[in-house]
Amino acid sequence: MLVTSDSEIKVLLGKLPKAELHLHLEGTLLPHRILSLAQKYSVPVDWNEVHSRYNTRNFTQFLELYKWATSFLREAEDYALLAEDAAAAFHEQGIVYAEITLSAGVMLLRKQNVTANFIALRDVFHRRAQSGTGPQTQFIFDAVRQFGSAPAMEVARMAADLRNEGVVAFGLGGDELSVPLSEFHSAYSYAAEHGLHLLAHAGETGGPEQIKDAIDILHAERIGHGIAALRSTALMNTLAERKIPLEICPSSNLRTNALNIQLNSATSDLSQHPLPKFFRHGIPVTLSTDDPAMFHTTLLDEYSAALQMGLSLDDLLVINRTAFEQSFLSDPARQSFLVQLTPVSPES
Ligand code: ADE
Ligand code: ZN
Repeated sequence: MLVTSDSEIKVLLGKLPKAELHLHLEGTLLPHRILSLAQKYSVPVDWNEVHSRYNTRNFTQFLELYKWATSFLREAEDYALLAEDAAAAFHEQGIVYAEITLSAGVMLLRKQNVTANFIALRDVFHRRAQSGTGPQTQFIFDAVRQFGSAPAMEVARMAADLRNEGVVAFGLGGDELSVPLSEFHSAYSYAAEHGLHLLAHAGETGGPEQIKDAIDILHAERIGHGIAALRSTALMNTLAERKIPLEICPSSNLRTNALNIQLNSATSDLSQHPLPKFFRHGIPVTLSTDDPAMFHTTLLDEYSAALQMGLSLDDLLVINRTAFEQSFLSDPARQSFLVQLTPVSPES
């Protein structure tokens, strides 16, 4: 494709109808919303605290931030407000389809009404999509790994109960160094038997064996992050041959220190990110933000980061197409998005 300048590329990427497959709704909670929710619940919080908590440098600090930020989401209307903010932001960036992950495991731990939270936020997204001011959406219920297998089974049950309401997949997030993946086998089997797709965060801060277990033991269809695959050519070959996608979130990998961990280095930068290597190896890769407010990013920023890593505009168009292809859309819906993808030009 003939495009001359960086700014032209950015305009084109902004206009490109994009899919976002790895995004935690709770991770879109912006600092100013934390302050308004803190006021609502009479919790003393000031800007300094918010700023210092939103400046994570490793995975432990990130988990602390996630726990703290989600403590301000207490009832359905809070989730609805979050959905309004997120839908508007996605629309502005040209995201036309999103598979949105919800930390149902956290809601259950806090004894919240998961169904009420879910219906409230889903209705916001549906209304926005209908009025052309937000993306089409489907939802993923995530369990939290360090909470263990019994709470994960509860999440799988909730996801199955809400399958006809827009929940399409069951996933597992949290600390992959806490509980072995094998302990989640029954929750994943239950989810699969009830028609849900299967996802797992693996190979983010853990090693390549986590990815292998996610595929072999849990039958995960897509892997969240998976950057540990850079440490195993055999695993990279398997991912390429079996066409198992990695949902790559570059800014997240910097902010959680995951890239340093995988490179076994005290410092690293985007030029060392394995995304280009995976792409050229034939592994299906998609680009995502993970927790955009917490990692100070947008999907457009992630596409710009991929350009800095040496990928071309044409490569990025392939990556965006891959996201639609690997989504959990029905075939007709997928086709209707895919036909919108070409041609694109800066003038259009
Ligand atoms: N939940 C939200 N973001 C996450 C991440 N980057 N890794 C694991 N669990 C998460
Ligand atoms: Zn994630």
